[in-house]
Amino acid sequence: MRLGGRSLTQPRAQPCAHAGRSAAGPAAMAPAALTAALLGGGLLLAAWRWLRAAARRGAGAGASMRGKTVIITGANSGLGRAAATELLRMKARVIMGCRDRARAERAAREIRAELGEREAAEGGGELVVRELDLASLRSVRAFCHRVLQEEPRLDVLINNAGIFQCPYMKTEDGFEMQFGVNHLGHFLLTNLLLGLLKNSAPSRIVVVSSKLYKYGEINFEDLNSDISYNKSFCYSRSKLANILFARELARRLEGTGVTVNSLHPGIVRTNLGRHVNIPLLAKPLFNLVSWAFFKTPLEGAQTSIYLASSPDVEGVSGKYFGDCKEEELLPKAMDDLVARKLWDISEVMVGLLK
Ligand SMILES: NC(=O)c1ccc[n+]([C@@H]2O[C@H](COP(=O)([O-])OP(=O)(O)OC[C@H]3O[C@@H](n4cnc5c(N)ncnc54)[C@H](OP(=O)(O)O)[C@@H]3O)[C@@H](O)[C@H]2O)c1
Ligand SMILES: *[C@@H]1O[C@H](CO)[C@@H](O)[C@H](O)[C@H]1NC(C)=O
Repeated sequence: MRLGGRSLTQPRAQPCAHAGRSAAGPAAMAPAALTAALLGGGLLLAAWRWLRAAARRGAGAGASMRGKTVIITGANSGLGRAAATELLRMKARVIMGCRDRARAERAAREIRAELGEREAAEGGGELVVRELDLASLRSVRAFCHRVLQEEPRLDVLINNAGIFQCPYMKTEDGFEMQFGVNHLGHFLLTNLLLGLLKNSAPSRIVVVSSKLYKYGEINFEDLNSDISYNKSFCYSRSKLANILFARELARRLEGTGVTVNSLHPGIVRTNLGRHVNIPLLAKPLFNLVSWAFFKTPLEGAQTSIYLASSPDVEGVSGKYFGDCKEEELLPKAMDDLVARKLWDISEVMVGLLK
């Protein structure tokens, strides 16, 4: 399945508002009436979707990121790409940490073209592509090494890249892929960049998690899925790990001027579902439903952009957000003992502590 929501051509969206969702019409109708109902419904849906996108300005609208440097992992696609576009629009220096240079360069070209000459001529803002494969600790180290050599400051780190329900695979270092990329790769990345973030304080770390954390558990007895593999469970576990990581890090960063918050973006039409197989015949229906009801990448990225740029959340740390508002967590995502234990084990796994 390719969720394929690469289009960013909609007007700037305001995410954090969603209209109610209409249901389909009755089934037993004469063909003509049915056609009319479908057409009418389609038009209504299109209008609603357009309004939803155009109604208000974006979460970061107005905020300037001039002079600020932002790193976004997985910035060539989906939410990361939308966030890169908007933060570039706000004049940030945006470093796209991507595993595939060709895909990333192409995305960068398209983003620049989309913003157009007028915005480029205003000056400020820069888009930089750097190689970063979170499934390789060597690559994470090389990326950070280069950043620390080249960048005098780092104001925002957005841990956005993610892999969803892939078949059983291992990273270069032998970690189960979803835990390895979504949690461990970002764990090492963040730790290696902490010094620069502290020197640039006030600075921010934004962790993109998911509501699906609810179905996960940090099962220390098989953290690497050597005994059994369940792709849904492992995705949820990695997203729960994201939240616990952000919590523990917030505790460790108290008083440093570096904040860290996690978020869920909602259901967004991106390439995330690439490993999920949808039967050929169901695809048109899926595409229609996702087009109508899923958020666009730009809408989905609003909470990331908000946490990265809004003055509203200056100094706010250790919280979990959805639709640009703080949200409650289940107790398992607030378990500080588990968070600490996960931190300690992660340190050993990525070789920060031996
Ligand atoms: N879409 C949703 O409905 C949804 C819901 C909840 C949470 N999220 C979260 O949102 C985040 C962004 O996902 P998305 O929906 O925008 O999906 P996406 O379009 O598939 O983008 C994911 C990005 O992560 C990158 N990535 C994957 N593996 C990587 C690796 N080993 N090293 C470096 N980068 C890697 C991908 O790079 P390539 O293009 O090279 O593969 C891509 O740039 C994820 O953390 C996801 O868990 C999404
Ligand atoms: C896999 O994990 C999911 C989510 O944790 C759970 O609902 C499902 O029952 C599990 N499947 C199997 C076969 O254990």
